[in-house]
Amino acid sequence: MEKPKYYITTPIYYPSDKLHIGHTYCTVAADSMARFKRLCGYDVMFLTGTDEHGLKIEKLAREKGVTPQAYVDEIVAGIKELWKLMNITHDDFIRTTDERHVKSVQKIFKKLYDNGDIYKSEYEGWYCTPCESFWLDRQLVDGKCPDCGRPVQKTKEESYFFRLSKYADRLIEYINTHPDFIQPVSRKNEMLQNFLLPGLDDLCVSRTSFKWGIPVTFDDKHIIYVWVDALSNYITALGYGSDDESKYEKFWPADLHLVGKEIIRFHTIIWPIMLMALDLPMPKQVFGHGWINFDGDKMSKSKGNVVDPVTLADRYGVDALRYFLLREMPLGSDANFSNELLIKRINSDLANDLGNLLSRTVAMVEKYFGGEIKGDLCPAEEDETVRTMGSELHAKVTKEMDALRFSDALSDIWQYIGALNKYIDVTAPWILAKDEEKKDRLASVMYNLAEGLRIVGVLITPFLPDTAAKMKEQLGITDDAQYSWDSVQEYGKLAAGTMVKKGAALFPRIDAEKELAYLAEVLRKNMEAAAAKAAALNEPAKPEKEEPEFPEITIDDFMKVKLVVGKVLAAEEIKKSKKLYKLTVDCGEENPRTICAGIKAYYAAEELVGKSVVVVANLKPAKLGGVMSEGMVLAAGDDDVVALLKPEKDMAPGTLIH
Ligand code: ME8
Ligand code: MG
Repeated sequence: MEKPKYYITTPIYYPSDKLHIGHTYCTVAADSMARFKRLCGYDVMFLTGTDEHGLKIEKLAREKGVTPQAYVDEIVAGIKELWKLMNITHDDFIRTTDERHVKSVQKIFKKLYDNGDIYKSEYEGWYCTPCESFWLDRQLVDGKCPDCGRPVQKTKEESYFFRLSKYADRLIEYINTHPDFIQPVSRKNEMLQNFLLPGLDDLCVSRTSFKWGIPVTFDDKHIIYVWVDALSNYITALGYGSDDESKYEKFWPADLHLVGKEIIRFHTIIWPIMLMALDLPMPKQVFGHGWINFDGDKMSKSKGNVVDPVTLADRYGVDALRYFLLREMPLGSDANFSNELLIKRINSDLANDLGNLLSRTVAMVEKYFGGEIKGDLCPAEEDETVRTMGSELHAKVTKEMDALRFSDALSDIWQYIGALNKYIDVTAPWILAKDEEKKDRLASVMYNLAEGLRIVGVLITPFLPDTAAKMKEQLGITDDAQYSWDSVQEYGKLAAGTMVKKGAALFPRIDAEKELAYLAEVLRKNMEAAAAKAAALNEPAKPEKEEPEFPEITIDDFMKVKLVVGKVLAAEEIKKSKKLYKLTVDCGEENPRTICAGIKAYYAAEELVGKSVVVVANLKPAKLGGVMSEGMVLAAGDDDVVALLKPEKDMAPGTLIH
């Protein structure tokens, strides 16, 4: 029978710099999933790669005085090294500079154009001459370049546009009838509410202002702009549009695109619409994972607080890092990385719970039975827990993995490890060993421990592949059939007569104090270097680096803010502004107020009328987009994920909020 197929992808990473722990997290998760599916008998295609075009790379290369190709070649070599170090088992690595990709993307672009889904028009925006960057209205900061803070010029550029708008309804229908398509569910609601329901603008998909990109075949002053190039990798890697489409035929549609939360929008709006326009099947699922922060702070190169996976893997081992990432960071939500947490997990879960369990077991079998597992010679009631847990673990782990709950899968395994450790305490083998008549009972205890470790070893294989192999070695299992994924569906497959073999500690205990001091020193140096570099580049240090964005305030400070419930009576566009609506809001006063709100991208005007909102009532009036605004409405979200705040129950306009 032919094996079922499973196609999983990570994003393709920008080779603008070394990758960090955040990228590693996504790739390790995808790798564990790919390994798991292979063990379950799937024919797996696991794809990762690099997204190499664009103005940013072109500029970085110029600064370094090399060609863009030379620039990316060097960084991509480092990325490949990193994946090798992290034991990543991708089946292919796509580079958007690969000829196979370039050719196929050109065909895709042409096809979209021939079908009338891409058309030529003009792109209006702002240009920062020193940075050679285009910006949209809403990207500007105080009307200036968001990168360098200098003034920008209004500009027009001839561009090709992709008709996203034409497919919006079909996509909404698709999302509503395929509840698993966007995961977690919160992301699905976000996409519908914030982007799809308010209506889609057509997307600018070509540029003439820089060169580092894939040329449009029928209009060579244009290059294909970012997302059409990048997203296509998922099918170009399969040979779509080439002479040999067999991989495409076999593996498409993807079973899972694993991506970070900030790019889920591109993967669940632009990508599906591209596929619809090409008349190709939809991927089965796009999962948006959260972000890793460092000590509660966003990692950034300019701060120098970027966590380097190579340093950590070199010091503590690849599996320790893989374990930490998968265990500590549930996939759907943001997570915090700290050196303290890392070292604590290594010492407690890995060195103590698992490492000691193995070394104690092997040592006891050697001491009491000359290394031989005699078999379950004298079962007893006190074995029940470890037997039952052991026989149920395979099913549990499988279930968690099928739902992408890596952290829960590991937690289930570690609960079992906990039970095995407790089993040693309860059975007290060192006491049994004193009594020759209890030798058979002692043999059973050893058997259950070794069998438990066999089950653990097999089930951690997708996550900690090297550790699994070391455990097999120390347990003395030579018959692969006794260490296969399916072999732990049943308890008791470990053969009597197996000879254990003592080996090195799986995870040497870490001197926490010493290591934390070391890691703190590395961080200090990196942050110093980053600050020095910023100074050398003569970049005016961005103020938020010095001062926290939100300094601590007292209750008195807060009480100065008058918040009231308002009701939107009318909403109209401010023509001059891309962001602003002019709202008429009843705040329970004699006359309604005029309040400007930068939410045009997220709400249709009609949608706003009748909504309850939270108004900052004692804000000094200010002119926005030429209109005097008498207050502010509160909304949640950063960048482009925005939702208006409203009282949880209907309240009369003017009601105080405190
Ligand atoms: O966005 N924690 O590439 P990229 C967790 N080329 N994940 C993080 C992270 C963090 N701190 N920082 C980054 C791109 N990531 C495009 C993708 S796909 C067709 C094109 C994740 O190198 C981020 O969420 O900027 C994203 O999924 C991935 O790294 C690649 O980021
Ligand atoms: Mg990014």
